[in-house]
Amino acid sequence: MATRNAGSNGSGTGRAYAHIVGWGMAVPEAVLTNDDISAFVETDDTWIRERTGIRERRIAGEKESAATLGYNAARHALEVADILPVDLDLIVVATSTPEHVFPGTASLIQDWLGASRAGAFDLSAACSGFVYAIDMAAQSIRSGSMKTALVIGTETMSRVMDWQDRSTCILFGDGAGAVVLRASEQPGGVLASVLRSDGAGCDLLAIPTTSAREPGEHKLNKMYMAGSEVFKFATRVVDEGIRQCLDKAGLELDDISLIVPHQANQRILASVAKKLRLDINRFMSNVERYGNTSAASIPIALCEALEQKRIKPNDHIVLVGFGGGLTWAATVIQWVAPSDAEPARFNRQRRQFLYTFARWRRRITQLQRSLNNLLYRLNPRRRRRKTRSGRENDDLS
Ligand code: ACO
Repeated sequence: MATRNAGSNGSGTGRAYAHIVGWGMAVPEAVLTNDDISAFVETDDTWIRERTGIRERRIAGEKESAATLGYNAARHALEVADILPVDLDLIVVATSTPEHVFPGTASLIQDWLGASRAGAFDLSAACSGFVYAIDMAAQSIRSGSMKTALVIGTETMSRVMDWQDRSTCILFGDGAGAVVLRASEQPGGVLASVLRSDGAGCDLLAIPTTSAREPGEHKLNKMYMAGSEVFKFATRVVDEGIRQCLDKAGLELDDISLIVPHQANQRILASVAKKLRLDINRFMSNVERYGNTSAASIPIALCEALEQKRIKPNDHIVLVGFGGGLTWAATVIQWVAPSDAEPARFNRQRRQFLYTFARWRRRITQLQRSLNNLLYRLNPRRRRRKTRSGRENDDLS
Protein backbone atom coordinates (compact mmCIF):
# COMPACT_ATOMS: atom_id res chain seq x y z
CA MET A 1 0.00 0.00 0.00
CA ALA A 2 0.96 3.63 -0.36
CA THR A 3 3.13 5.38 2.12
CA ARG A 4 2.56 8.98 1.16
CA ASN A 5 -0.76 9.14 2.88
CA ALA A 6 -1.76 12.48 4.35
CA GLY A 7 -3.42 10.43 7.07
CA SER A 8 -0.06 9.52 8.50
CA ASN A 9 -0.18 12.66 10.64
CA GLY A 10 -3.93 12.57 11.10
CA SER A 11 -5.94 13.84 14.04
CA GLY A 12 -7.52 10.45 14.75
CA THR A 13 -11.12 11.71 14.61
CA GLY A 14 -12.26 8.83 12.38
CA ARG A 15 -13.73 11.31 9.87
CA ALA A 16 -12.45 11.07 6.31
CA TYR A 17 -11.10 14.07 4.41
CA ALA A 18 -10.09 13.99 0.74
CA HIS A 19 -6.58 15.31 0.11
CA ILE A 20 -4.68 15.79 -3.13
CA VAL A 21 -1.49 13.75 -2.66
CA GLY A 22 -0.26 13.43 -6.24
CA TRP A 23 -0.36 15.48 -9.45
CA GLY A 24 0.99 15.32 -12.97
CA MET A 25 0.58 16.76 -16.44
CA ALA A 26 1.36 15.80 -20.03
CA VAL A 27 1.28 18.01 -23.10
CA PRO A 28 2.16 17.17 -26.69
CA GLU A 29 5.55 18.33 -27.98
CA ALA A 30 4.27 20.08 -31.09
CA VAL A 31 3.76 23.81 -30.62
CA LEU A 32 1.42 25.85 -32.82
CA THR A 33 2.13 29.58 -32.59
CA ASN A 34 -0.15 32.46 -33.49
CA ASP A 35 2.02 33.13 -36.53
CA ASP A 36 1.54 29.50 -37.62
CA ILE A 37 -2.25 29.97 -37.46
CA SER A 38 -2.10 33.23 -39.39
CA ALA A 39 -0.67 31.21 -42.28
CA PHE A 40 -4.03 29.49 -42.85
CA VAL A 41 -6.74 31.83 -41.47
CA GLU A 42 -7.03 35.61 -41.57
CA THR A 43 -5.69 36.64 -38.18
CA ASP A 44 -2.48 37.88 -36.62
CA ASP A 45 -0.38 37.45 -33.52
CA THR A 46 -1.18 40.94 -32.17
CA TRP A 47 -4.97 40.42 -32.41
CA ILE A 48 -4.81 37.03 -30.72
CA ARG A 49 -2.49 38.19 -27.92
CA GLU A 50 -4.46 41.36 -27.22
CA ARG A 51 -7.90 39.69 -27.29
CA THR A 52 -7.00 36.44 -25.52
CA GLY A 53 -3.49 36.52 -24.00
CA ILE A 54 -2.56 33.38 -26.00
CA ARG A 55 0.80 33.10 -27.81
CA GLU A 56 0.92 29.39 -28.55
CA ARG A 57 -0.76 26.04 -27.88
CA ARG A 58 0.21 22.35 -28.05
CA ILE A 59 -1.20 20.04 -30.72
CA ALA A 60 -1.47 16.27 -30.35
CA GLY A 61 0.42 14.08 -32.81
CA GLU A 62 -1.20 11.28 -34.80
CA LYS A 63 -0.45 8.65 -32.16
CA GLU A 64 -1.67 10.84 -29.27
CA SER A 65 -5.22 11.05 -27.93
CA ALA A 66 -7.07 12.16 -24.81
CA ALA A 67 -6.43 8.63 -23.50
CA THR A 68 -2.65 8.59 -24.11
CA LEU A 69 -2.16 12.11 -22.73
CA GLY A 70 -4.34 11.29 -19.71
CA TYR A 71 -2.40 8.07 -19.12
CA ASN A 72 0.93 9.92 -19.11
CA ALA A 73 -0.39 12.59 -16.73
CA ALA A 74 -1.79 9.84 -14.48
CA ARG A 75 1.58 8.07 -14.29
CA HIS A 76 3.23 11.28 -13.09
CA ALA A 77 0.48 11.75 -10.48
CA LEU A 78 0.91 8.18 -9.18
CA GLU A 79 4.66 8.80 -8.98
CA VAL A 80 4.23 11.95 -6.86
CA ALA A 81 1.65 10.21 -4.64
CA ASP A 82 3.97 7.19 -4.54
CA ILE A 83 1.09 4.75 -4.79
CA LEU A 84 0.57 1.68 -6.94
CA PRO A 85 -2.14 1.58 -9.62
CA VAL A 86 -3.73 -1.38 -7.81
CA ASP A 87 -4.38 0.95 -4.84
CA LEU A 88 -6.85 3.01 -6.92
CA ASP A 89 -10.56 2.55 -6.17
CA LEU A 90 -11.86 4.97 -8.80
CA ILE A 91 -10.75 6.69 -12.00
CA VAL A 92 -12.79 9.64 -13.28
CA VAL A 93 -11.85 11.26 -16.58
CA ALA A 94 -13.26 14.65 -17.49
CA THR A 95 -13.12 15.05 -21.26
CA SER A 96 -15.08 16.35 -24.24
CA THR A 97 -12.80 14.67 -26.77
CA PRO A 98 -12.87 10.95 -25.98
CA GLU A 99 -11.69 8.46 -28.62
CA HIS A 100 -15.04 6.68 -28.35
CA VAL A 101 -18.48 7.45 -26.95
CA PHE A 102 -17.87 4.16 -25.20
CA PRO A 103 -15.69 2.57 -23.92
CA GLY A 104 -14.87 5.54 -21.73
CA THR A 105 -11.40 7.05 -21.78
CA ALA A 106 -11.27 6.19 -18.07
CA SER A 107 -11.58 2.46 -18.84
CA LEU A 108 -8.74 2.63 -21.39
CA ILE A 109 -6.51 4.37 -18.85
CA GLN A 110 -7.58 1.94 -16.11
CA ASP A 111 -6.44 -0.95 -18.30
CA TRP A 112 -3.14 0.68 -19.36
CA LEU A 113 -2.27 1.50 -15.75
CA GLY A 114 -3.18 -1.98 -14.55
CA ALA A 115 -5.55 -0.44 -11.98
CA SER A 116 -7.32 -3.77 -11.56
CA ARG A 117 -9.39 -2.78 -8.51
CA ALA A 118 -10.71 0.53 -9.85
CA GLY A 119 -14.09 1.53 -11.24
CA ALA A 120 -13.77 3.94 -14.16
CA PHE A 121 -16.03 6.39 -15.95
CA ASP A 122 -15.93 9.56 -18.07
CA LEU A 123 -17.59 12.75 -17.03
CA SER A 124 -18.85 15.29 -19.56
CA ALA A 125 -19.14 18.86 -18.30
CA ALA A 126 -16.82 20.60 -20.82
CA CYS A 127 -14.37 23.02 -19.24
CA SER A 128 -15.99 22.62 -15.79
CA GLY A 129 -15.49 18.83 -15.96
CA PHE A 130 -12.34 18.61 -13.86
CA VAL A 131 -13.92 20.51 -10.93
CA TYR A 132 -17.07 18.37 -11.18
CA ALA A 133 -14.88 15.24 -11.16
CA ILE A 134 -12.86 16.42 -8.14
CA ASP A 135 -16.10 16.95 -6.25
CA MET A 136 -17.48 13.49 -7.22
CA ALA A 137 -14.25 11.79 -6.09
CA ALA A 138 -13.96 13.85 -2.89
CA GLN A 139 -17.59 13.07 -1.95
CA SER A 140 -16.96 9.34 -2.43
CA ILE A 141 -13.88 9.52 -0.22
CA ARG A 142 -15.55 11.63 2.46
CA SER A 143 -18.52 9.25 2.57
CA GLY A 144 -16.09 6.45 3.44
CA SER A 145 -17.02 4.35 0.40
CA MET A 146 -13.49 4.52 -1.03
CA LYS A 147 -9.98 5.58 -0.16
CA THR A 148 -8.10 6.53 -3.30
CA ALA A 149 -9.25 8.15 -6.54
CA LEU A 150 -7.52 9.34 -9.69
CA VAL A 151 -9.08 12.36 -11.38
CA ILE A 152 -7.93 13.31 -14.88
CA GLY A 153 -8.79 16.19 -17.20
CA THR A 154 -7.63 15.44 -20.74
CA GLU A 155 -8.39 16.83 -24.20
CA THR A 156 -7.45 16.84 -27.84
CA MET A 157 -9.41 19.97 -28.74
CA SER A 158 -7.41 20.25 -31.99
CA ARG A 159 -9.44 17.27 -33.32
CA VAL A 160 -12.79 19.05 -32.87
CA MET A 161 -11.68 22.43 -34.20
CA ASP A 162 -13.01 23.89 -37.38
CA TRP A 163 -9.64 25.15 -38.58
CA GLN A 164 -11.38 27.59 -40.95
CA ASP A 165 -13.17 29.34 -38.08
CA ARG A 166 -10.77 32.02 -36.86
CA SER A 167 -12.89 32.94 -33.84
CA THR A 168 -12.47 29.48 -32.25
CA CYS A 169 -9.36 27.82 -33.72
CA ILE A 170 -7.06 30.44 -32.21
CA LEU A 171 -8.22 29.61 -28.70
CA PHE A 172 -7.79 25.90 -28.09
CA GLY A 173 -4.98 23.42 -27.46
CA ASP A 174 -4.34 19.85 -26.28
CA GLY A 175 -3.05 18.43 -23.00
CA ALA A 176 -3.85 16.57 -19.80
CA GLY A 177 -3.52 16.91 -16.05
CA ALA A 178 -4.25 14.48 -13.23
CA VAL A 179 -4.46 14.35 -9.45
CA VAL A 180 -4.62 11.54 -6.90
CA LEU A 181 -7.06 12.08 -4.04
CA ARG A 182 -6.63 10.10 -0.87
CA ALA A 183 -8.61 9.60 2.34
CA SER A 184 -7.02 10.98 5.48
CA GLU A 185 -8.11 11.81 9.00
CA GLN A 186 -6.18 15.08 8.83
CA PRO A 187 -8.72 17.94 8.47
CA GLY A 188 -8.45 19.86 5.19
CA GLY A 189 -8.30 18.81 1.57
CA VAL A 190 -11.38 19.41 -0.58
CA LEU A 191 -13.57 21.51 1.74
CA ALA A 192 -16.60 22.55 -0.32
CA SER A 193 -17.77 22.78 -3.91
CA VAL A 194 -20.46 24.50 -5.93
CA LEU A 195 -21.62 22.83 -9.16
CA ARG A 196 -24.00 24.66 -11.48
CA SER A 197 -25.57 24.30 -14.93
CA ASP A 198 -27.78 26.37 -17.22
CA GLY A 199 -28.76 24.23 -20.19
CA ALA A 200 -30.65 27.16 -21.74
CA GLY A 201 -27.23 28.19 -23.02
CA CYS A 202 -26.67 24.86 -24.81
CA ASP A 203 -26.72 26.62 -28.20
CA LEU A 204 -23.81 28.93 -27.32
CA LEU A 205 -21.06 26.35 -27.19
CA ALA A 206 -21.34 22.82 -28.53
CA ILE A 207 -19.90 19.88 -30.45
CA PRO A 208 -22.84 18.21 -32.24
CA THR A 209 -22.35 14.48 -32.88
CA THR A 210 -23.96 12.08 -35.35
CA SER A 211 -26.68 11.47 -32.75
CA ALA A 212 -27.67 15.14 -32.60
CA ARG A 213 -31.40 15.84 -32.90
CA GLU A 214 -30.89 19.25 -34.49
CA PRO A 215 -27.29 19.87 -35.55
CA GLY A 216 -28.61 22.90 -37.48
CA GLU A 217 -26.10 24.50 -39.78
CA HIS A 218 -23.20 23.34 -37.63
CA LYS A 219 -20.60 20.75 -38.68
CA LEU A 220 -20.80 17.36 -36.96
CA ASN A 221 -18.01 16.62 -34.48
CA LYS A 222 -16.70 20.19 -34.74
CA MET A 223 -16.94 22.80 -32.03
CA TYR A 224 -18.86 26.03 -32.51
CA MET A 225 -19.04 28.87 -30.07
CA ALA A 226 -20.82 32.19 -29.75
CA GLY A 227 -17.64 33.77 -28.35
CA SER A 228 -18.88 37.09 -27.02
CA GLU A 229 -21.97 35.47 -25.37
CA VAL A 230 -19.73 32.88 -23.66
CA PHE A 231 -17.42 35.70 -22.62
CA LYS A 232 -20.33 37.57 -20.97
CA PHE A 233 -21.57 34.36 -19.29
CA ALA A 234 -18.08 33.62 -17.90
CA THR A 235 -17.57 37.08 -16.43
CA ARG A 236 -21.06 36.87 -14.88
CA VAL A 237 -20.79 33.48 -13.15
CA VAL A 238 -17.15 32.96 -12.16
CA ASP A 239 -16.93 35.51 -9.33
CA GLU A 240 -20.40 34.47 -8.12
CA GLY A 241 -19.35 30.76 -8.09
CA ILE A 242 -16.19 31.55 -6.13
CA ARG A 243 -18.11 33.58 -3.53
CA GLN A 244 -20.80 30.88 -3.11
CA CYS A 245 -18.15 28.20 -2.68
CA LEU A 246 -16.27 30.24 -0.06
CA ASP A 247 -19.55 30.88 1.80
CA LYS A 248 -20.15 27.13 1.90
CA ALA A 249 -16.69 26.55 3.35
CA GLY A 250 -17.05 29.42 5.85
CA LEU A 251 -14.09 31.27 4.31
CA GLU A 252 -13.44 34.82 3.08
CA LEU A 253 -11.69 35.91 -0.10
CA ASP A 254 -8.78 37.09 2.02
CA ASP A 255 -8.23 33.49 3.17
CA ILE A 256 -7.49 32.42 -0.39
CA SER A 257 -3.87 32.54 -1.49
CA LEU A 258 -4.36 31.38 -5.08
CA ILE A 259 -7.21 30.94 -7.55
CA VAL A 260 -6.58 28.35 -10.27
CA PRO A 261 -9.18 29.17 -12.93
CA HIS A 262 -10.06 27.53 -16.22
CA GLN A 263 -7.63 29.05 -18.74
CA ALA A 264 -9.92 30.41 -21.45
CA ASN A 265 -8.92 34.00 -22.01
CA GLN A 266 -6.66 36.38 -20.04
CA ARG A 267 -9.31 39.10 -20.37
CA ILE A 268 -11.86 36.90 -18.57
CA LEU A 269 -9.38 36.41 -15.69
CA ALA A 270 -8.71 40.16 -15.54
CA SER A 271 -12.43 40.92 -15.47
CA VAL A 272 -13.09 38.37 -12.66
CA ALA A 273 -10.13 39.71 -10.64
CA LYS A 274 -11.55 43.21 -10.99
CA LYS A 275 -15.02 42.12 -9.87
CA LEU A 276 -13.57 40.33 -6.84
CA ARG A 277 -11.23 43.28 -6.18
CA LEU A 278 -8.27 40.90 -6.15
CA ASP A 279 -4.81 41.46 -7.57
CA ILE A 280 -4.50 39.53 -10.85
CA ASN A 281 -1.37 37.87 -9.38
CA ARG A 282 -3.65 35.88 -7.09
CA PHE A 283 -4.84 34.06 -10.26
CA MET A 284 -2.71 31.32 -11.77
CA SER A 285 -2.39 31.85 -15.52
CA ASN A 286 -0.59 29.88 -18.20
CA VAL A 287 -3.08 30.51 -21.02
CA GLU A 288 -0.27 32.24 -22.91
CA ARG A 289 1.55 28.91 -23.50
CA TYR A 290 -1.27 26.37 -23.78
CA GLY A 291 -4.42 28.24 -24.84
CA ASN A 292 -7.71 26.73 -23.69
CA THR A 293 -7.30 22.99 -23.06
CA SER A 294 -10.89 22.67 -21.78
CA ALA A 295 -11.16 20.05 -18.97
CA ALA A 296 -7.36 19.78 -18.83
CA SER A 297 -6.64 23.45 -18.24
CA ILE A 298 -7.18 23.53 -14.45
CA PRO A 299 -5.05 20.47 -13.57
CA ILE A 300 -2.27 21.67 -15.91
CA ALA A 301 -2.35 25.11 -14.26
CA LEU A 302 -2.40 23.45 -10.81
CA CYS A 303 0.70 21.38 -11.66
CA GLU A 304 2.55 24.46 -12.87
CA ALA A 305 1.50 26.45 -9.78
CA LEU A 306 2.96 23.68 -7.61
CA GLU A 307 6.11 23.55 -9.72
CA GLN A 308 6.51 27.32 -9.29
CA LYS A 309 5.98 26.89 -5.51
CA ARG A 310 2.93 29.16 -5.56
CA ILE A 311 1.05 26.77 -3.24
CA LYS A 312 2.36 26.16 0.27
CA PRO A 313 1.24 23.83 3.06
CA ASN A 314 -2.03 24.94 4.67
CA ASP A 315 -2.81 27.43 1.89
CA HIS A 316 -6.43 27.67 0.81
CA ILE A 317 -6.84 27.60 -2.96
CA VAL A 318 -9.87 27.73 -5.26
CA LEU A 319 -10.28 25.83 -8.54
CA VAL A 320 -12.95 27.33 -10.77
CA GLY A 321 -14.21 26.17 -14.17
CA PHE A 322 -16.81 27.35 -16.70
CA GLY A 323 -17.85 26.33 -20.18
CA GLY A 324 -20.15 24.25 -22.34
CA GLY A 325 -23.49 23.15 -20.97
CA LEU A 326 -23.45 25.89 -19.92
CA THR A 327 -21.79 24.75 -16.73
CA TRP A 328 -19.66 26.29 -14.02
CA ALA A 329 -18.14 24.94 -10.83
CA ALA A 330 -15.81 25.96 -8.01
CA THR A 331 -14.10 24.03 -5.25
CA VAL A 332 -12.03 25.22 -2.30
CA ILE A 333 -9.11 23.14 -1.08
CA GLN A 334 -6.93 23.39 1.99
CA TRP A 335 -3.56 22.12 0.83
CA VAL A 336 -1.83 19.65 3.16
CA ALA A 337 1.79 19.59 4.14
CA PRO A 338 3.60 16.98 2.09
CA SER A 339 4.28 13.81 4.05
CA ASP A 340 7.80 13.42 5.42
CA ALA A 341 7.53 9.66 5.05
CA GLU A 342 10.20 8.02 2.92
CA PRO A 343 8.82 6.58 -0.33
CA ALA A 344 8.17 2.84 0.00
CA ARG A 345 11.09 0.73 -1.19
CA PHE A 346 10.81 -0.54 -4.76
CA ASN A 347 7.46 1.22 -5.35
CA ARG A 348 8.78 2.81 -8.54
CA GLN A 349 9.94 -0.58 -9.84
CA ARG A 350 6.63 -2.17 -8.81
CA ARG A 351 4.70 0.51 -10.73
CA GLN A 352 6.88 -0.06 -13.78
CA PHE A 353 6.31 -3.80 -13.51
CA LEU A 354 2.52 -3.30 -13.24
CA TYR A 355 2.47 -1.06 -16.37
CA THR A 356 4.41 -3.69 -18.33
CA PHE A 357 2.25 -6.49 -16.93
CA ALA A 358 -0.93 -4.55 -17.91
CA ARG A 359 0.34 -4.23 -21.50
CA TRP A 360 1.06 -7.95 -21.77
CA ARG A 361 -2.17 -8.92 -20.00
CA ARG A 362 -4.15 -6.92 -22.58
CA ARG A 363 -2.30 -8.52 -25.51
CA ILE A 364 -2.62 -12.03 -24.08
CA THR A 365 -6.34 -11.58 -23.26
CA GLN A 366 -7.04 -10.35 -26.79
CA LEU A 367 -4.95 -13.13 -28.35
CA GLN A 368 -6.70 -15.73 -26.19
CA ARG A 369 -10.08 -14.41 -27.35
CA SER A 370 -9.04 -14.63 -31.02
CA LEU A 371 -7.70 -18.17 -30.51
CA ASN A 372 -10.91 -19.27 -28.77
CA ASN A 373 -12.98 -17.87 -31.64
CA LEU A 374 -10.77 -19.64 -34.18
CA LEU A 375 -10.99 -22.97 -32.33
CA TYR A 376 -14.73 -22.55 -32.05
CA ARG A 377 -15.06 -22.02 -35.81
CA LEU A 378 -12.82 -25.03 -36.56
CA ASN A 379 -14.63 -27.41 -34.19
CA PRO A 380 -18.03 -28.44 -35.66
CA ARG A 381 -18.93 -30.61 -32.62
CA ARG A 382 -18.75 -27.63 -30.26
CA ARG A 383 -20.82 -25.59 -32.71
CA ARG A 384 -23.51 -28.32 -32.84
CA ARG A 385 -23.63 -28.49 -29.03
CA LYS A 386 -24.06 -24.73 -28.91
CA THR A 387 -26.87 -24.85 -31.49
CA ARG A 388 -28.70 -27.58 -29.47
CA SER A 389 -28.39 -25.65 -26.23
CA GLY A 390 -29.56 -22.54 -28.13
CA ARG A 391 -32.72 -24.49 -29.16
CA GLU A 392 -33.21 -25.67 -25.60
CA ASN A 393 -33.05 -22.05 -24.47
CA ASP A 394 -35.57 -21.07 -27.11
CA ASP A 395 -37.96 -23.77 -25.82
CA LEU A 396 -37.67 -22.32 -22.32
CA SER A 397 -38.56 -18.80 -23.43
N1 ACO B 1 -8.49 37.43 -35.79
C1 ACO B 1 -8.89 38.64 -36.21
N2 ACO B 1 -10.14 39.07 -36.06
C2 ACO B 1 -11.02 38.24 -35.49
C3 ACO B 1 -10.68 36.96 -35.03
C4 ACO B 1 -9.34 36.56 -35.22
N3 ACO B 1 -8.88 35.37 -34.81
N4 ACO B 1 -11.74 36.37 -34.49
C5 ACO B 1 -12.76 37.23 -34.58
N5 ACO B 1 -12.32 38.36 -35.20
C6 ACO B 1 -13.08 39.55 -35.51
C7 ACO B 1 -14.55 39.28 -35.69
O1 ACO B 1 -14.82 38.83 -36.98
C8 ACO B 1 -15.15 40.60 -35.38
O2 ACO B 1 -15.01 41.39 -36.54
P1 ACO B 1 -16.19 42.38 -36.98
O3 ACO B 1 -16.31 43.36 -35.84
O4 ACO B 1 -15.69 42.96 -38.25
O5 ACO B 1 -17.41 41.51 -37.13
C9 ACO B 1 -14.22 41.19 -34.32
O6 ACO B 1 -13.00 40.45 -34.42
C10 ACO B 1 -14.75 41.08 -32.92
O7 ACO B 1 -15.29 39.75 -32.73
P2 ACO B 1 -15.77 39.25 -31.34
O8 ACO B 1 -16.23 37.84 -31.44
O9 ACO B 1 -16.74 40.27 -30.78
O10 ACO B 1 -14.41 39.35 -30.51
P3 ACO B 1 -14.19 39.22 -28.98
O11 ACO B 1 -13.50 40.39 -28.48
O12 ACO B 1 -15.44 38.77 -28.26
O13 ACO B 1 -13.16 38.00 -28.92
C11 ACO B 1 -13.17 35.67 -28.40
C12 ACO B 1 -13.51 36.73 -29.43
C13 ACO B 1 -11.68 35.71 -28.20
C14 ACO B 1 -13.60 34.33 -28.95
C15 ACO B 1 -13.89 35.96 -27.07
O14 ACO B 1 -15.24 36.19 -27.31
C16 ACO B 1 -13.78 34.86 -26.04
O15 ACO B 1 -12.71 34.61 -25.51
N6 ACO B 1 -14.92 34.26 -25.65
C17 ACO B 1 -14.96 33.29 -24.56
C18 ACO B 1 -14.44 31.97 -24.96
C19 ACO B 1 -14.43 31.09 -23.72
O16 ACO B 1 -14.15 31.55 -22.66
N7 ACO B 1 -14.76 29.85 -23.81
C20 ACO B 1 -14.77 29.11 -22.55
C21 ACO B 1 -15.43 27.94 -22.59
S1 ACO B 1 -14.81 26.87 -23.83
C22 ACO B 1 -15.45 25.30 -23.47
O17 ACO B 1 -16.14 25.09 -22.53
C23 ACO B 1 -15.18 24.19 -24.40
